[in-house]
Amino acid sequence: AWTTGNVIEEQVAAIREQVGDRRAICGLSGGVDSAVAAALVQKAIGSQLTCVYVDHGLMRKGETEQVEKDFVAATGVSLKVVDAERRFLDALAGVLDPEEKRKIIGREFIRVFEQAQAEIVAEAGAHGGRPVQFLVQGTLYPDVVESGGGTGTANIKSHHNVGGLPEDLEFELIEPLRKLFKDEVRMVGRELGLPEEIVQRQPFPGPGLGIRIVGEVTRERLDLLREADAIAREELTAAGLDRDIWQCPVVLLADVRSVGVQGDGRTYGHPIVLRPVSSEDAMTADWTRMPPDVLAKISTRITNEVADVNRVVLDVTSKPPGTIEWE
Ligand code: XMP
Repeated sequence: AWTTGNVIEEQVAAIREQVGDRRAICGLSGGVDSAVAAALVQKAIGSQLTCVYVDHGLMRKGETEQVEKDFVAATGVSLKVVDAERRFLDALAGVLDPEEKRKIIGREFIRVFEQAQAEIVAEAGAHGGRPVQFLVQGTLYPDVVESGGGTGTANIKSHHNVGGLPEDLEFELIEPLRKLFKDEVRMVGRELGLPEEIVQRQPFPGPGLGIRIVGEVTRERLDLLREADAIAREELTAAGLDRDIWQCPVVLLADVRSVGVQGDGRTYGHPIVLRPVSSEDAMTADWTRMPPDVLAKISTRITNEVADVNRVVLDVTSKPPGTIEWE
């Protein structure tokens, strides 16, 4: 019978067999798939695995800490965190076009990741260790089907993997989630003791908040959006809606201002858009008919607590014609 226990046992044995006494490296994105894949490989080969997390400064509130502290505490994994915020923000300065933003973020990500990878490989060599020969990927069954079912290739849809992988990849892949669906991955993650905040995470795009600021991406705007997003997430969770909603992007219209009134004064601030959607697979989606009381709570809190935001609007567009993200 299928149990998470069986899956874990089977994969741990297979990974040990595959890797032997060599070394593996795994990029963590903060998402469920890479976290569970890393935890499984960690269980199999322990300190022969090194994880890399690129902090591009476009994460939501608390996400980097979740990886840095909670994930490490739960798994004991050896983690290299690369603080690349400055680099990403510099590269994004003055850029407004969504596709250009995506390209820049993807390109910088690959550069930073490759450099970290090269450092880990060099360190392993310097200590007379066995070479790093494996790259862990959180590929799921639906990804395998969509990409034609090939094995052992590093050709993941770029959409799912910040801009894709280097073409001259010389690593063998370890893909312990290849036979699993998302809900099964979550069960395996729970069984491996990962924190609920990671296991229950809704999908979040690789380019992060960089594509949820309509306009130029700056540190100030990111901080503002992080606050608004944290409030929305908190209230959705408090209302028990996490499972009903596929995901709820919170978007800052940074180049739009509207007039408002607060206390005795006139304000001239930015709108925040709430984009709650219901979906099976993100290919199509419908806007979620959220309880008005929850919307009211989120709106009141955001306008009260986030400086420079004086209006909250609801996106009531299905996909198509809208996409889930605004950029
Ligand atoms: P759209 O906006 O195309 O989004 O309707 C569909 C799903 O994909 C996510 N998304 C991304 N995920 N890298 C990712 O890993 C990306 O560049 C990216 N762009 C969109 C989006 O959040 C939604 O779940």
